[in-house]
Amino acid sequence: MKKALSMVLIGLLLVGLVAVSGCADSTETEASENEVPVYIVGTEPTFPPFEMTDDSGAIIGFDIDLINAIAEDQDFEVQVQSIGFDALIPAIQSGNIDLIASGMTITEAREEEIDFSEPYIEAGLAIAVAADNDDIESVDDLQDLVAAAQIGSTGHAKAQELVDAGVLSEVKTFASVDVVMMELVNGGVDVVINDMPVTQAYINQQPGVIKIAGEKLESESYGFAVRSGNEELLTMINTGLQNVIEDGTYDEIQTKYFS
Ligand code: ARG
Repeated sequence: MKKALSMVLIGLLLVGLVAVSGCADSTETEASENEVPVYIVGTEPTFPPFEMTDDSGAIIGFDIDLINAIAEDQDFEVQVQSIGFDALIPAIQSGNIDLIASGMTITEAREEEIDFSEPYIEAGLAIAVAADNDDIESVDDLQDLVAAAQIGSTGHAKAQELVDAGVLSEVKTFASVDVVMMELVNGGVDVVINDMPVTQAYINQQPGVIKIAGEKLESESYGFAVRSGNEELLTMINTGLQNVIEDGTYDEIQTKYFS
């Protein structure tokens, strides 16, 4: 008799457990149906006006507004993370981030490691010198000089190319662009090779200290990037980009950061 009772009790307990877990299951499914995917965006934020930090330390800029507009259009959310520029591609490959929005130039070498979106803006490299230096007009005037560049950037690659060609004597690299600029301001190097619109933004912040020397070195296009083979996210980015260009949002963001 006692045994039968305990069997019934165990039975009731099991039914209760199943009911509770079934219940938990269904609320979970309902919740995830309403939730939008969150993608982690990596960026190196010393690159105004594309990415920089405001007084509160929040990461803002053209790239951040643009990727947020694309995310809104495509029903996903982004969480922006600060990462060293030369660590962005390894971070995407290891799965620590899903997306790069960092003024990254689309290059053939990088195409082998990551997948780029359609280009979203044109830029290019420029030489910067101290404001009182009138000796430099082109790469031909860089003989035996010392340059600074951000590590892993196309400016770094260009400077290294000029070292290998026996033009520059040395390239000093730094993790962030503000330190690269500081080095030029303090006279630690003769020139900086960096993206022209970004160097212009630093000049605007502190006029009369450094200037751009000569013409743009070469044209470059920036793209967002995803892990190689992440077709799903890449398609959303390209479709969203197209949509925000067509509906005028892109122009609004451009006016906000470039006027
Ligand atoms: N456009 C250059 C490159 O792709 C420099 C980009 C640096 N970006 C940054 N957020 N610090 O190499």
